[in-house]
Amino acid sequence: MPAQTLDQLVSLSKRRGFVFPGSDIYGGLANTWDYGPLGVELKNRLKKLWWKTFIHKRQDMVGLDASILMNPRVWEASGHVSSFTDPLIDCKKCKQRFRGDKLLEEKLGVEAAAILQLEQVQPMLVAERIPCPNCGAVEWTEAKKFNLMFKTHQGVSEETASLVYLRPETAQGIFVNFKNITDTMRLRLPFGVGQIGKAFRNEITPGNFTFRTREFEQMEIEYFFDPERQKWEDVFAEWKKASWEFLTKTLGIKEENLRFRDHEKDELSHYSRGTTDVEYKFPWGWGELCAAAAYRTDYDLKQHEKFSGQELQYTDPDDPTRKITPHVMEPSFGSDRIALAIMLDAYTEEPLPNGESRTVMRFDPRLAPIDVAILPLSKKEHLIAKAQEIYKAILDKTNLVCDFDVTGSIGKRYRRQDEIGTPRCITVDFGTLGEDPEQGAPDTVTIRDRDSLQQERVTITQLIEKLRE
Ligand code: GAP
Repeated sequence: MPAQTLDQLVSLSKRRGFVFPGSDIYGGLANTWDYGPLGVELKNRLKKLWWKTFIHKRQDMVGLDASILMNPRVWEASGHVSSFTDPLIDCKKCKQRFRGDKLLEEKLGVEAAAILQLEQVQPMLVAERIPCPNCGAVEWTEAKKFNLMFKTHQGVSEETASLVYLRPETAQGIFVNFKNITDTMRLRLPFGVGQIGKAFRNEITPGNFTFRTREFEQMEIEYFFDPERQKWEDVFAEWKKASWEFLTKTLGIKEENLRFRDHEKDELSHYSRGTTDVEYKFPWGWGELCAAAAYRTDYDLKQHEKFSGQELQYTDPDDPTRKITPHVMEPSFGSDRIALAIMLDAYTEEPLPNGESRTVMRFDPRLAPIDVAILPLSKKEHLIAKAQEIYKAILDKTNLVCDFDVTGSIGKRYRRQDEIGTPRCITVDFGTLGEDPEQGAPDTVTIRDRDSLQQERVTITQLIEKLRE
């Protein structure tokens, strides 16, 4: 049985060290979350797989790590200062603030709510009798444009310091470095630049655990192509396919929990001429997981040319008299949102053959935070010493992340490893020591498979070979 509510996952995350509430000992800070020892391993593995798939395994891609703080002119050029806004609406009775379009989504559908004009939001809320989620009143103010960018100041004193923004998307770091990258990397169109990094948005209604937060991480690609040599529809289709395959084949997210959703024309971001999201079936319904592909045309490069006064063109290596502004396809993934989908997808409650039940995180083995757990059957000193020897041999001879657990009964330890999704447990017993032939032959151990619960007895040498494979 999968997770029925988000609370089941939130509770497991805290209990087992995946995700903790931010600033916990101070009573928290609303909608901030810290990745614990297991959560950081899961997220690092997700990011590594993304980097390997899209940067290392492709000849047409390179990586970048740009700054979070950028010249504020970047955000004027990109259109974020004027257009990166949501319709903010206040309840006159309790003074709580909400995103007007989100309140209307359930009644009108996501697409229809997203295309509402600012001045239509309040009359629509009243006409549909949408109550305030906090106090139940239907007393709404006019909707106002609210810019989502976080502002701060750079400089030694508040008075003289200049205004800077925390970047709301990593994409602009790539456009701003277009010239540096093409000058240094001998790239031919089509080529892409990918980066992973933090982004910040002062969301009006964050929530649903790590689904919508104000600080989050993106994994973005800007893929540059020559619009005279390639049809954008073809590049679009290629990236839709690549994004889908990454989610389903590389990360192993179940296909039945995913679907594409095309943006309606009026719903498109200010820079986009076509966008398709991938949505995930979250416990509260379908929601955006990532943008499989967004066609940004030459909008960003042209805008930065205009605002910076620098030429951001590509010279055709086969015809140096031909200069063009490449067009751009953008697949954009949120690593926190995808990590959340991976955890929800893996969460399973199931009965065991002995009548008990277990919660098991069925992570793809490439994503599981711990690869293998070494479990000495008892706390006897000489058994622990042997288990430590095996643990060290695995660390020396493989690249696996290994846990060593001696606390509690063996059954309890299996349950714990199931709950954190460890694919294999290695039990070291008195057979291993040559003291109990009934448990097994000397220098053999038991490997237990998380999913099938099958147990296999192998020699220590075979164990290392198997784990290496
Ligand atoms: N550069 C394009 C861009 O930023 P977006 O659809 O606004 O497009 C891309 O964001 C992805 O970033 C989303 O699909 C989602 O995975 C993630 N994301 C966006 N806002 C988020 C938030 N407030 N919290 C967590 N993830 C977010």
